Amino acid sequence: MASGLVRIAIIGAGSVSDFHHVPGIKLDPRCELVAVCDPNEELLDQRKSQWGPAFYCTDYEVIAAHRDIDAVVIATPNFTHCHIALACINQGKHVMCEKPLGVSHAEAALMCRAAQARGVRHMTAFTYRFAPSMKYLRHLLKSGALGEPRHFRSQRFLDLPETSWGWRQYKNLAGAGDLYDMTIHRIDFAQDLMGPIHSVCGAVKTFVPRDKTIDGHSCKPSEVDDWSALIGSFASGAVGVWEGSTLMKGHHNKGVGFEWAEVNGSEGSAVYQLVDPNDILVGRHGQTMEKRRVPAEFMKPTGSPRNPAEGNPSTVFRYDLVYEFVSAIVEGRDAIPSFEDGASAQAVADAVLQSSTERRWVDVIR
Ligand SMILES: NC(=O)c1ccc[n+]([C@@H]2O[C@H](COP(=O)([O-])OP(=O)(O)OC[C@H]3O[C@@H](n4cnc5c(N)ncnc54)[C@H](O)[C@@H]3O)[C@@H](O)[C@H]2O)c1
Repeated sequence: MASGLVRIAIIGAGSVSDFHHVPGIKLDPRCELVAVCDPNEELLDQRKSQWGPAFYCTDYEVIAAHRDIDAVVIATPNFTHCHIALACINQGKHVMCEKPLGVSHAEAALMCRAAQARGVRHMTAFTYRFAPSMKYLRHLLKSGALGEPRHFRSQRFLDLPETSWGWRQYKNLAGAGDLYDMTIHRIDFAQDLMGPIHSVCGAVKTFVPRDKTIDGHSCKPSEVDDWSALIGSFASGAVGVWEGSTLMKGHHNKGVGFEWAEVNGSEGSAVYQLVDPNDILVGRHGQTMEKRRVPAEFMKPTGSPRNPAEGNPSTVFRYDLVYEFVSAIVEGRDAIPSFEDGASAQAVADAVLQSSTERRWVDVIR
């Protein structure tokens, strides 16, 4: 950090980097975007004009070895996360990696051990922990306002086209479908709220082949789930129910889809919704759920220059991921959520796959 700023490289210049990682870096005065890596040269040219001056290259090994880079954000297809992260960790870089950390729990655990052993900051990009109403729900739960937690419930629906999903639909490149892409976020925030999941009864299913590209060309059919569901038992004794799908017709909602996550305690219930993340629904015994504004202190991280009144509320909280990563680096503390959280959620997801295959309850092995 010769300049005093955290020098960050983006590895993988695709959709998610453009959607929130680069805006997050540009917003945070404590860091700068110094390098961008992607093997797609045409995309790199496009990003040069969009993202501005930085060192642009096609080989992540060059980034890993670069002395003037402090930290990396890995936002590449799932099958590349593990080897890119290990290369960067070996060179002492702090790493934020997209979810799922790997294409299996074994890969995620390897990445976690490597980061801990090297002493770098490590973070899993579990976006929805940063939604204002999710943070406030957590506060209500942890402060005892909802009483003893009993039930967790999550529904996450997207209404995507039934055409090819690219690398996301092949087992060796993605690991799993909706389960690893969407439901894993909900497994993570459930564990953050309610503690570790002990055992699961899971099911996954593929409804559509996705054997045509958007331009009508034939492609290899999908090998992964487009619907995933689980019942989970938390170590605390609480229980949870999750359902996710990328094929829920009528839930397009300008691309945001539908999301509902709810905790029911012995005294009250609270609901987070992605479509309305600056408000929360709260109800106590004998009452009807009512909508409340999330208090100002939960709208953004302390010290962040982000104005919560600006931009689309369902989008802008995602910029807080980078703020947390940079805060962990400058404050010399662990980032939250860490690789440990990423590996733990993936252990649960893998137990769901096993449960679905074996048609039985499965204990989670971390
Ligand atoms: N946290 C979230 O909310 C969220 C949202 C979307 C995607 N994601 C995750 O982010 C990752 C990327 O998703 P995306 O939608 O941006 O995908 P994408 O396909 O749009 O972009 C991936 C980019 O990585 C590049 N790439 C491939 N191999 C590479 C390598 N070896 N080195 C450098 N770059 C490489 C590709 O050329 C592509 O430009 C996935 O793991 C996905 O699960 C997370």
